[in-house]
Amino acid sequence: MSDVLTRELFDTLLIWYDENKRVLPWRGTTDPYRVWVSEIMLQQTRVETVKSYFSHWMRLFPTVRALAEASEDEVLKAWEGLGYYSRARNLHRAAKMVCEVYGGEIPRDRDKLRKLPGIGDYTVGAILSIAFGIAEPAVDGNVLRVISRLTADDADVSRPEVRKRVADTLRPLMPTGRTSEFTQALFEIGALICLPNDAFRCDLCPLRAACRAYAAGMQASYPVKPEKAEKRTEKKTVLILTAEEKYAVRRRPAKGLLANLYEFPNLEGHLSEAEVRAVLGAKVVSVEPLPAATHVFTHLIWDMTGYLVRLAAPAPMDGVIWATKEEIGKTYSIPSAFRAYKKALTLV
Ligand code: ADE
Repeated sequence: MSDVLTRELFDTLLIWYDENKRVLPWRGTTDPYRVWVSEIMLQQTRVETVKSYFSHWMRLFPTVRALAEASEDEVLKAWEGLGYYSRARNLHRAAKMVCEVYGGEIPRDRDKLRKLPGIGDYTVGAILSIAFGIAEPAVDGNVLRVISRLTADDADVSRPEVRKRVADTLRPLMPTGRTSEFTQALFEIGALICLPNDAFRCDLCPLRAACRAYAAGMQASYPVKPEKAEKRTEKKTVLILTAEEKYAVRRRPAKGLLANLYEFPNLEGHLSEAEVRAVLGAKVVSVEPLPAATHVFTHLIWDMTGYLVRLAAPAPMDGVIWATKEEIGKTYSIPSAFRAYKKALTLV
């Protein structure tokens, strides 16, 4: 693979990066905390979405210590809508560990970083190369796509040993003093030029002359990934229960999908209006249907219907918190899976 991946090739990439890089809120910093937070946010979320979350997060929690001292609910609220909430919980736990074990200083050490919750080889590489100038590659899905095309490598990129092999190949090619640009230039070419499937922009690519996939007209065949497993579908009925300008929310269990976040009460299956009345009993004043919605998780799809249910009074119910719209807006993190029903709140 390394006869394509040469120092000259990466010099060309760095020149292209200097001229074409985007202005992003986490760029131009060597603060390891900012690099860390941005990389965790960017792991499963688009750059455009991350921009405003990152800036908001930095206002709320400007330092590792500020994050460590926040409550879990504050942290989850700031993450609301970004998805994959274990990222936020791990960041929070790791910030506490950095304060307890390393006096609030993020370690510049591979093994110490790797032991922090939520930090894998990719994030270690990003923090070391971007914040500390250490030659450690950050190999994510974008980088694997770029490298597998350049080298026409048909190894399955979901295998950890392939990721490791790519990291081992890139490490000696990282230029002293420009490790940050090297890492970010690879992200950038993956984000702007070497796009997934058949969206690649080889006409604009500075590396085209060296690219084996381009030479063979086989860009769309890389990277090679295994077949995706079918997603399971769960039917649900979401209830917006309201009385006296309060709304019912409840905390999800501490383990499993969307752990510890808040939700609107919901029931398994698609219930009819009559079934909803039967479940809730005599306190129901009215039941109005809400639009259907679906939410796609990594391994699961929620196929939802919903009802707006007015009750005579905000009576105590198992696990239910009666909150105002303002309290829901400020305090309770309700994930995007419920977006369609959060919208319904503004209509009432
Ligand atoms: N994707 C992952 N990390 C990134 C970064 N630092 N900048 C832009 N895109 C990214």
